[in-house]
Amino acid sequence: MNVYQNVLAMVGNTPMLKVSNMDTGPCELYLKLELANPGGSIKDRIAVEMIAAAEAEGKLKPGDTIIEATAGNTGLGLALVASSKGYPLKIVMPDKMSQEKVNNLRAMGAEVVMTRSDVQKGHPEYYQDMAARLAEENGYFYVNQFENAANVEAHYNSTGPEIWQQMDGNLDAFVCGVGSGGTLTGIGRYLREQNSEVDLVLADPAGSILEPLINRNEEVEAGSWLAEGIGEDFVPKICEIKLANKAYAIDDKEGFNTAREVLKQEGIMVGSSSGYLIAAALRYCREQTEAKRVVTLACDTGNRYLSKLFNDEWMRSQDLL
Ligand SMILES: Cc1ncc(COP(=O)(O)O)c(C=O)c1O
Repeated sequence: MNVYQNVLAMVGNTPMLKVSNMDTGPCELYLKLELANPGGSIKDRIAVEMIAAAEAEGKLKPGDTIIEATAGNTGLGLALVASSKGYPLKIVMPDKMSQEKVNNLRAMGAEVVMTRSDVQKGHPEYYQDMAARLAEENGYFYVNQFENAANVEAHYNSTGPEIWQQMDGNLDAFVCGVGSGGTLTGIGRYLREQNSEVDLVLADPAGSILEPLINRNEEVEAGSWLAEGIGEDFVPKICEIKLANKAYAIDDKEGFNTAREVLKQEGIMVGSSSGYLIAAALRYCREQTEAKRVVTLACDTGNRYLSKLFNDEWMRSQDLL
């Protein structure tokens, strides 16, 4: 049995689970269980890689304060790295994110600055603009997952190869969401290099600007959606959005109810964004006329959404049941 010397060494090498009780049409659907990372989400991978890259490039030195703009999971990954390496950490987070994430971050020693969810890029209270400004004013190291090449590299070097190996080099489609675009770009590039025919499918919350862009080359105004961590009002710098050759717009009702169904049918408690990914993957699977092997992600644990996704009262208040 493997014994780890350090919690950071436990990041990655997550299990792959075949969906066995849900209707996948003629296809096989597999979930890469990123919720099994020690910080509970796929973002542990990029936290390790982005901090290592900043240290190697001399951008981050002992005693420096780290700051990041995040829907919460990147913050939790960074909290893991920052506490094990001794850096103070500040997190700027939009106020629609779950209270569990805020409590979890504070418990891990991070300072959480809440800001508005109802403003877009360019507004001084937009979470990314605020993190950049605080970094500038105070000399913090701004990680900036939306423009950090190490985000893409983490997935190109680890998540992509793990998926390819776990599927024994036999994979027809990969379904993911875009927050920063790190997973789509890093995993997508790696998989296309192995099989140029692989379908890269975007699961996008209805209201995000990405699905209209991919399916119809249409530029739209962003609306709002309830998923935390996926969906965009702009295309992040590191995101090679054209890698996706197909996209599904998933509304909040379908996304949230799919996440609940995954727990009932497959016994895995995923977070809300994974519900959108799995809903899109199921739609893709059911539309196929021949057997295909499809992978999507269980991005984070549903434990951090007990007050929302797994709370009937909250679900009812949002008209989601
Ligand atoms: C919680 C969460 N955050 C972010 C993302 C998107 O990842 P990225 O920032 O790499 O685009 C996902 C899923 O893909 C997610 O479930």
